[in-house]
Amino acid sequence: MARSVSVWFVLAAIVCSVTAISAEESSDSKEFVLTLDHSNFTDTVSKQKFIVVEFYAPWCGHCKNLAPEYEKAATILSKHDPPVILAKVDANEEANKGLANEYDVKGYPTLKILRNGGKDVQEYKGPREADGIVEYLKKQSGPASAELKSAEDATKLIDDKKIVVVGVFPKFSGEEFESYITLAEKLRSDYEFGHTLDAKHLPRGESSVTGPVVRLFKPFDELFVDFKDFNVEALEKFVEESSVPVVTLFNKDPSNHPFVIKFFNSPNAKAMLFANLSGDGIDSLKSKFREVAEQYKGQGIGFLLGDLEASQAAFQYFGVQESQVPVIIIQNNDGKKYLKPNLKADDIAPFVKDYKEGNVPPYVKSEPVPEENNEPVKVVVADTLEDMVFKSGKNVLLEFYAPWCGHCKKLAPILDEVAVHFEKDASVLIAKLDATANDIVDESFDVRALKRELDLQFYTGTAIGLDDAGSSSLTSFPFSSMNLF
Ligand SMILES: *[C@@H]1O[C@H](CO)[C@@H](O)[C@H](O)[C@H]1NC(C)=O
Ligand SMILES: *[C@@H]1O[C@H](CO)[C@@H](O)[C@H](O)[C@H]1NC(C)=O
Repeated sequence: MARSVSVWFVLAAIVCSVTAISAEESSDSKEFVLTLDHSNFTDTVSKQKFIVVEFYAPWCGHCKNLAPEYEKAATILSKHDPPVILAKVDANEEANKGLANEYDVKGYPTLKILRNGGKDVQEYKGPREADGIVEYLKKQSGPASAELKSAEDATKLIDDKKIVVVGVFPKFSGEEFESYITLAEKLRSDYEFGHTLDAKHLPRGESSVTGPVVRLFKPFDELFVDFKDFNVEALEKFVEESSVPVVTLFNKDPSNHPFVIKFFNSPNAKAMLFANLSGDGIDSLKSKFREVAEQYKGQGIGFLLGDLEASQAAFQYFGVQESQVPVIIIQNNDGKKYLKPNLKADDIAPFVKDYKEGNVPPYVKSEPVPEENNEPVKVVVADTLEDMVFKSGKNVLLEFYAPWCGHCKKLAPILDEVAVHFEKDASVLIAKLDATANDIVDESFDVRALKRELDLQFYTGTAIGLDDAGSSSLTSFPFSSMNLF
């Protein structure tokens, strides 16, 4: 949960929430994008070696933006040899929801690449505009690994922005080569792969090797690394581990974003240092941070250096002020956070050590406790959650909201009305909590914070019995006359 939220702030909204509801319809009639539904999906897909499917919802803005680009790409790709087919499924349609579930559709649009009659399913990780879609799909529908016959081929593939894996072989056959191609098939949506008979074509590394050897090129740290174990699992582990920077850089450069996503998706605890990277005296901070990162390599903790300029959303998410930078925040997998503001270079190592040893108290973001709380709907903040909700002994209806969320704004007057109605009933509390400005540490609140936009939860009087009542939401909501959505 905490993880997905973290990535959310990094990349802003590129998908619509599945739970959002809207009635707007689009009525475009398309030519080259195939329309599929539950009745003909399997039949169509089973006949294709390669097909792309977009799961969309008619009301989703990002889907609408994608539609003309997707159609244009489908037009171009229909002339490709062999043609590449692009299809779409209205996943919002009740009858297609089973299909959407089967393909694990969690937001719109979701694009999947289906290979071999639908037996192999792969996430589409390419661009969202026509030319980019075409380029990406040409590559994805072609061989998983491209032969590099010249230095020119190599420089075309290997740049200073992405991870590229190249196998050097004395011949393109045999067990090692087969393993390499299996690896390339498996990881082709995440990395670029090439193979060559001559290491001299490659821009870096020992050029007299004849292989078999796998050389991974990366735009950071040691720039390339060789590997000679051709067990597919070992190869995969090698590629995944070698492609993580010692320190991931988070700034406005989009070519860093794949690494930032990887950082947030990793199962590791996350140590994030936010600072003004063009500020004075930054070098000692950076080098100390890197030193510590190297020291903790392989110990279940990842390191990210964030530039102040790119980190506004992160600051909001963590409830940190600019006056606190340089600030280090460690977030572990249960969502707990540990924070040290106004950090000096020499503080980094002791802080991480203290965290590791369990000597740092967790940090909980909270709005200040309101001085007055006289409105019918009471304001709860992280610091008052315990007293006002759990220990109140009351029946509490608590709204988790985001200030920017439309559904929440619509609900506000209704909730007010309900609160007025119950004002004289001392056993009932109607309250709200800004889920963007307060941490909800208690796991029994399954608030998917920013993604879910609005969440109402109801707690019965013997408040501590959260397990019994905690997860009940609108279904057991007692005010059945309220039609919220
Ligand atoms: C699949 O069925 C839908 C609904 O009947 C139809 O609109 C669509 O054209 C069909 N697609 C194909 C490829 O047959
Ligand atoms: C970062 O530091 C530079 C140099 O001191 C300064 O010009 C810039 O305004 C600072 N950036 C921010 C976002 O504070």
